[in-house]
Amino acid sequence: MKSIDFECSIRVKPGKENVIEVIDQRFLPFRTGLFEIRNEEDAAFAIREMVVRGAPLIGVTAAFGMYLAVRNCGKESYMEALDRAETLLNSTRPTAINLFYATRRMKAAVEPGLEGDKVSGILFREAAALMEEEIEACRKIGVHGLVLIKEVFRKNGGKTVQVLTHCNAGWLACVKWGTATAPIYMAHQQGIPLHVWVDETRPRNQGARLTAYELGMAGIPHTVIPDNAGGHLMQHGLVDLVITGSDRTTANGDVANKIGTYLKALAAYDNRIPFYVALPVSSIDRELEEGVQNIPVEERSSDEVHFTEGWTGSEIGRVRVTPFEIRAANYGFDVTPARLVTRLITERGICPATREGISSLFTPEGA
Ligand code: MRU
Repeated sequence: MKSIDFECSIRVKPGKENVIEVIDQRFLPFRTGLFEIRNEEDAAFAIREMVVRGAPLIGVTAAFGMYLAVRNCGKESYMEALDRAETLLNSTRPTAINLFYATRRMKAAVEPGLEGDKVSGILFREAAALMEEEIEACRKIGVHGLVLIKEVFRKNGGKTVQVLTHCNAGWLACVKWGTATAPIYMAHQQGIPLHVWVDETRPRNQGARLTAYELGMAGIPHTVIPDNAGGHLMQHGLVDLVITGSDRTTANGDVANKIGTYLKALAAYDNRIPFYVALPVSSIDRELEEGVQNIPVEERSSDEVHFTEGWTGSEIGRVRVTPFEIRAANYGFDVTPARLVTRLITERGICPATREGISSLFTPEGA
């Protein structure tokens, strides 16, 4: 397996401010390669087709897409280009709020009446600032989450800390560090013995393919498990804590994340195992009062359920796993009610998954 020679999932191509490079996640871990984004259509394609995925990275990619739309806008006014790019990008994936946060923020960065060439520079700096902020947010999530892992380690009497995670909320889903994985990386760096149970995360297998790849690169012991194994492991004392990411968390603390997260939260609750959600504040949607009824859940192609993809021995191949001519449903996300979430771990600190807890992360002005 080849390793990738840069440590972030996205970057400005060295020496070329008009090209954004991302790791093409469609082929990991079997083939490593880069995908070039040169305009807003490329950015929209990358998000829709999951060349890039994971809430923070979707947001950063969309921000650069907005910048490229203006940079290449020709005779069109920059406001028209921004409107067009916003509509296009916002139509790609509905659940992760980071996408909408990013396109809105990029529009807000430009004041009407500026000269076109100035605007492109402003937007480049804004997208780059968002990228840096997401890196720093994940690093801080790691610092806060580390305290929780240390607590478990102390209570366990120094035994290996067993963490369970779902999907991929690692650096590939963000820019660097990851959300759920940042505390794990930091604990590992500090010599705390850890083992991570990695849910395979059907249908696209982000756990088996991406999280296992990341943890392997970092030398962190881990075991991939079928999605339905977590409850059994919890009943037998093999999980100390669960940490997942989030695509959107509402004002009351309900958490949307990859389909299957809710079932892990139920099992954790039944077994009195802490269930933590790690997320940057850019994944919080304070405009939605609650999530179960109100977060739009993406429905993806049923082919992702009918077929499974993997390494055949010589290439990446697909095989059918369902009978022919039957229906399959493919809901991308589910919503874990706040009452099942032990705490939220954010770059601004750890808080209860409640309206008050979430409000405490923001200033009275909402910043
Ligand atoms: O469909 P995906 O792969 O974009 O879903 C990703 C997840 O659900 C992640 O857990 C979530 O985005 C949090 S990422 C830090």
